[in-house]
Amino acid sequence: MSERFYITTPIYYVNDVPHIGHAYTTIAADAIARWHRLNGRDVRFLTGTDEHGQKVMRAAAKLGRTPQEHCDLTVRRFVDLWTRLDIQYDDFIRTTESRHKEVVRSFLQQLWDQGEIYSAPYTGWYSTSAERFWTDEEVAAAAKGTVEELKAGKLTPVCPDSGAPVELLTELNYFFRMSAYQDRLVRWIEEHPGCVLPDHRRNEVLGFLRKPLGDLCISRPAARLSWGIPLPFDEDYVTYVWFDALTNYVSALGPDRARYWPADAHLVGKDILTFHTVYWFSMLMALGMEPPRQVYAHGWWLMNRAKMSKSVGNVVNPSVLLDDFGPDAVRYFMLREIPFGYDGEYSDAAFLLRFNSDLVNDFSNLVHRVSKWAATPLGPAAGFTAGDEALLDVARRATATFRAELEGLQFRQALEGLWELVRATNKYVDSEAPWALAKANNTARLATVLRVVQEVQRMVASHLWCVCPRSCTEVLSRLGLATPDLRVGLDVLPEGNVARAGDPLFMRREAKAPPPEPEPPAIKEVPMSDTITYDDFSKVALRVGLVVNAEKHPNADRLLVLKVDVGEAEPRQIVAGIAKHYAPEALVGKRIVVVTNLAPAMLRGVESRGMLLAAGGADIASLLSPLHEVAPGSIVK
Ligand code: MSP
Repeated sequence: MSERFYITTPIYYVNDVPHIGHAYTTIAADAIARWHRLNGRDVRFLTGTDEHGQKVMRAAAKLGRTPQEHCDLTVRRFVDLWTRLDIQYDDFIRTTESRHKEVVRSFLQQLWDQGEIYSAPYTGWYSTSAERFWTDEEVAAAAKGTVEELKAGKLTPVCPDSGAPVELLTELNYFFRMSAYQDRLVRWIEEHPGCVLPDHRRNEVLGFLRKPLGDLCISRPAARLSWGIPLPFDEDYVTYVWFDALTNYVSALGPDRARYWPADAHLVGKDILTFHTVYWFSMLMALGMEPPRQVYAHGWWLMNRAKMSKSVGNVVNPSVLLDDFGPDAVRYFMLREIPFGYDGEYSDAAFLLRFNSDLVNDFSNLVHRVSKWAATPLGPAAGFTAGDEALLDVARRATATFRAELEGLQFRQALEGLWELVRATNKYVDSEAPWALAKANNTARLATVLRVVQEVQRMVASHLWCVCPRSCTEVLSRLGLATPDLRVGLDVLPEGNVARAGDPLFMRREAKAPPPEPEPPAIKEVPMSDTITYDDFSKVALRVGLVVNAEKHPNADRLLVLKVDVGEAEPRQIVAGIAKHYAPEALVGKRIVVVTNLAPAMLRGVESRGMLLAAGGADIASLLSPLHEVAPGSIVK
């Protein structure tokens, strides 16, 4: 049987709206999976969704759905996006499927039977607004002090999410004896240098393991959180989401576990590395299973220097890029632009630059510039000049670099290497000038030059296919090939082969003019005499809000982006046209009045969910504030 290769992405929170940061891992995994399949390996590529937990339960309740109905609807966002991005996964696991739940329960039962799980009181800072526990460190940081000050009662403990007070609570829970694995984890990671990559991430994990490792709380009382997998030995508790989620990599294999485990590569973002090494490796060790062969942590896509995320509001919607540029351009850009393992900044300008230079000027041009002679039958694979052989040498080097770098997940370097061949071939066409050969009726040399160029097209398209499958399939089909052919040589296409001409693969795009800055919503000065009914007034939901953060808007001088605690689980993001009147730092800690049921709007690319009340009409004189320190979220009427 052929060599097997098992690769996974994280399972995405089903509740999230996918952005290009999520697409990144899946695109990378798809490129690798395609490459290994093309090289004859028995590939298993798994992705999926993480569907249990507080957030899903709450979102469903808000929308009047059951959590399962909510998951069944929102999972489509991921499935549809992967279809649009030409992702060829072999399996899609959802943690609400019974095949998954059964394995989680069997793992828990086994660990319980082995005495690896015990019950003990858990003490932590409980926030009723966030419905979760926080650690001393988290609460002290939120209260802007130290753990010592917190313990000495010198700080007012507050919730890091909402700023609301938290209380020290104790409840009975179940714990996995993770601390017992500390030495084994260190030894394993030291003895398997490739198991956590890149190296700087491996050092980070080893650094983490130098501090004492605690046991892992793996339960939540079902009375507080019912949307989870019940513990097999105590149905009053559900499984901690990370214990549940990590198990997907094994549960999805079903009866093929022996063939595909241990996984060859778990691709993850750097933020979830500890879960995938410390937690996951120790869980597997306790279960008597081998840890994965490699966990590769990539960096983050940033925008305006902050991690792209829905809560910050700096996300790029992949659907918009897909509508404008198609899947290959998105896939190419993401893998070419930043080195895998490091953070990188997204901008439309960078996207357009790569698109126009690499895909239009270099790749598309390589195909299009000889399409005029597509109907000319290829000459024999003989009579090559030194110049032809020199180009073949470039092809040998470029394809070898591509293979080595890609297999080491260095997508950027792999593509850079291949592009040397693309650029060298464009230069070759410039100097061989097929148009001059045609004009001079030198048909023999023209047929040889065309062979060289078409063979390079074949080699480039066959290698690049794993990154840009759609356009490469088209190039290969124009050459008469149904599938990629990775052989390096000038004698693969048959003598007399006739190609097919077609439209350019990619067309140059101009930058769109930036949208004009929207006028601040006009403040209608309603004549005092106009009346509304009480019912009209009561449609407006007004609450006291506490400003927990304020920043300048990344793209507009007159706007501020505020985070305002209005008594919900998370602070609201509100964009307000008050930058001329208030410095951001002057607002933090102030209580204001917020219209909370205004429809959300995007203001210069940042989502705003609410409006502040201010006095003074169009030229704001003052924000409105309650006279006393009433709690955030208090109703105003
Ligand atoms: N559900 C967990 C993973 C469980 S795996 C057993 C989770 N989900 S997530 O949807 O929040 O994140 C999934 C992946 O997307 C993570 O690897 C995360 O690093 C990645 N990204 C989310 N935002 C990102 C960027 N802005 N840039 C790059 N990747 C980022 O965590």
